[in-house]
Amino acid sequence: GAHFKCLTRKPIPDPLTYPVNKDIYRTTVLLTTWERTMRGTIHSARLELVEGDITQQKDDAIVNAANTTLLGGGGVDGAIHRAGGPAILEECKKIGGCPTGEAVITSGGNLPAQWVIHTVGPVWRDGSKREDALLRNDYKNCLIQADLQQLESIAFPSISTGAYRFPIEKAAHIALSTIAGHLKGKTTVKTVYFVLFGAAALEAYQNSLQDLCGKDTEMKQV
Ligand code: APR
Repeated sequence: GAHFKCLTRKPIPDPLTYPVNKDIYRTTVLLTTWERTMRGTIHSARLELVEGDITQQKDDAIVNAANTTLLGGGGVDGAIHRAGGPAILEECKKIGGCPTGEAVITSGGNLPAQWVIHTVGPVWRDGSKREDALLRNDYKNCLIQADLQQLESIAFPSISTGAYRFPIEKAAHIALSTIAGHLKGKTTVKTVYFVLFGAAALEAYQNSLQDLCGKDTEMKQV
């Protein structure tokens, strides 16, 4: 069976007193390693929460919190198109759009990441419009795209928790439990990064991961 290790959390330095250099601040605050035998091969996957700007991630793919037109916007969407350059928008125009809950893939343009997986999160209304299921589908479909390309590393932002106003604690639990579920199955993904913008978002995901480690009998705190 699968067993998990949640390494203990190092204290998060206070950004006000921490050295200005953001890179030092972008340390791994929590690492969860999955090790399990799968038909005789050892498959281990890592989930890392980092604080920073997703456009700087050098992973195989970064995920964009897009809208259904795929024509860009603010937040993560704006940052990725700004840093990635016009090639990404050109590819998005050819794709022509993406329904909420689904994911499409383009090249990374000028980004350090090779691919951008664009997904469209649900706008939070009141919780009765299938928001949870659609957000779960976002994460699942991004990981399916990663497996289709046989990618080994992928970085997610906190989808829907900005302009789309999805409550972050709820979103964090949906995101982390969906990713954990996918990593228990057959996948080429070895490392999933969550790139959080700001200490509050980081804290919300940390608490959620800690909580998940506590509840999931296969995950043991080390
Ligand atoms: N790196 C990582 N995370 C970021 C970055 C960045 N450079 N910029 C913003 N974020 C964080 C926000 O702080 C928030 O926690 O990403 C999360 C998602 O926020 P949004 O980007 O607003 O995305 P979302 O809530 O899914 O709304 C999508 O906003 O930008 C438009 O075109 C987009 O219409 C779509 C909507």
